[in-house]
Amino acid sequence: MTAPSTPKTNRRNRRWALWGLMAISAIGIAAYAVPPYLSGNSADSNVPIDPDVALHYLSLAVHALPGGLALIIGPLQFLTPLRVRRPRLHRLLGRIYMICVLIASGAAVFAATFSLGGFSIQIAFYLLVVGWLYTLAKAYLCIRRGEVQLHRIWMIRNYTLTFAAVTLRVYLLLGLMLKQTYTSLPFDEIYNASGWASILVNVVVAEYFIIQRTLAPLARRRQRREAAPVTTSAS
Ligand code: HEM
Repeated sequence: MTAPSTPKTNRRNRRWALWGLMAISAIGIAAYAVPPYLSGNSADSNVPIDPDVALHYLSLAVHALPGGLALIIGPLQFLTPLRVRRPRLHRLLGRIYMICVLIASGAAVFAATFSLGGFSIQIAFYLLVVGWLYTLAKAYLCIRRGEVQLHRIWMIRNYTLTFAAVTLRVYLLLGLMLKQTYTSLPFDEIYNASGWASILVNVVVAEYFIIQRTLAPLARRRQRREAAPVTTSAS
């Protein structure tokens, strides 16, 4: 006989399903996008390489490898059982994640400068680097001060930006499917729109999630406390 489902178990199942979807898509994109940059052959690159820039392909490799690792580590860090039962592993993975983001960011600045995708997508990449590093620094400073809840919120924001690597490729795929119908749609415009959409949609979803899951319960609790009648020990 199966246990009756309650709102709490339903919520837990939904949370696991979402986590599973996030983890599988992160591993899938890392497994698909990173290997062309492990061969050492610039002809394998999925984006055009500037033949006049000697380090262009190398910068993509130095970016993609740690980027892929950060993408895979991220979902593990949000697992409460792992965080509670293996705090040292959580800290170790956190440090590896941080180093990966720092290296991938540095290489991304170089890669963005020589991207042949155009000015608009270059600006999107630069802003993504700034947001990636800023949210990482905030998360790090919060945990150094022992502010666990704030650390969690800043890490949600940071991983949301890491996850732009997944949504960018999903939108690109959708754009390429659209191009089969609207054949005059230029690839550069699909690339640009996908890049910007991957950042904006991810940020909005993360803020919605943070408000619903963290800030709204806090606000409700505070409102209930303020509305409760004050009792005195003398009465
Ligand atoms: C979130 C911050 C990130 C920024 C700012 C960023 C930036 C960039 C830039 C500028 C390029 C060159 C694109 C071009 O030449 O048009 C690039 C390519 C690439 N990035 Fe990222 N990236 C980020 C995250 C990631 C992550 C987490 C991964 C993990 C898989 C990743 C994997 C790649 C790969 C594989 C390429 C080569 C292009 C391709 O084959 O699709 N990036 N990235």
